[in-house]
Amino acid sequence: MTRLVDQDRIEERQVVPPTEFDRYADTYSEKINHVLSVWGQEQEFFTRCKVPFLLEAFDAVRTEQALRVLDVGCGVGLIHPYLAPSVDELHGIDVSQESISLAKRNNPSVQYLAHQGETLPYDDGTFDCAYAIGVVHHLSPKQWQGFISDMVRVVRSNGVVLIIEHNPLNPATQSVVRSCELDQGAVLLPSWKLRRLMAAAGMVALDVRHILFTPFDRPVFRKLDRLLAWLPMGAQYVVSGRKSRIAADVGQAPCRNA
Ligand SMILES: C[S@@+](CC[C@H](N)C(=O)[O-])C[C@H]1O[C@@H](n2cnc3c(N)ncnc32)[C@H](O)[C@@H]1O
Repeated sequence: MTRLVDQDRIEERQVVPPTEFDRYADTYSEKINHVLSVWGQEQEFFTRCKVPFLLEAFDAVRTEQALRVLDVGCGVGLIHPYLAPSVDELHGIDVSQESISLAKRNNPSVQYLAHQGETLPYDDGTFDCAYAIGVVHHLSPKQWQGFISDMVRVVRSNGVVLIIEHNPLNPATQSVVRSCELDQGAVLLPSWKLRRLMAAAGMVALDVRHILFTPFDRPVFRKLDRLLAWLPMGAQYVVSGRKSRIAADVGQAPCRNA
């Protein structure tokens, strides 16, 4: 398949200093499974529940051109086996070199990059869709707007940005985050705040859906999630929107660490 993003150019190797997630790359699922065990489900279930929202977003931006998608903060690429078959070019980027090395071994068809620059190393409008799962709460609140604006920048006009986060209003989520070694120092943000940040970054047609109201793995409980999506009490939530033409014309000039 023709590669539409010049991976060789963006891979001009900079040395990526170690990050805290390097320490957890090998044991990421294990650590998450440990804290989730009290809720009777494993990491794989929570990953799988997110897949339909992403596939829906991909379908919304699919054209006759090859579909290009970016996963920002992709970690070890746990969700990629579910998504790669539906995408022409799936890219994953993360600040953790160890996580990226593992992701590459597990998902040979995905194009990965370890990168710690101020901004994403892709041209404006490169992707049809960019998404981030469980990343924003690992940034400091003063980085949030720049991080989101940069995701918007690399998406084409009318492309989709989708972000999935933990819901601080859900007591079970609070308990899991408190007991999870990986989440030390995490700052959870409520869905309304993420929605506002995405609007400020030039996203329109914003849609907020709360998910995972129960930890049960039956289709009926996913239907329940869809029915209750308006209620800000699910364990996690999904905010998605389209990049406005105005944002595309003006161009987002982000500073991820501003
Ligand atoms: C909780 S993990 C989630 C990993 C993956 N998205 C998933 O759902 O399995 C958070 C990830 O965000 C990455 N990360 C943190 N800050 C980042 C940044 N500024 N840019 C890209 N990735 C970042 C971490 O290295 C880590 O892999």
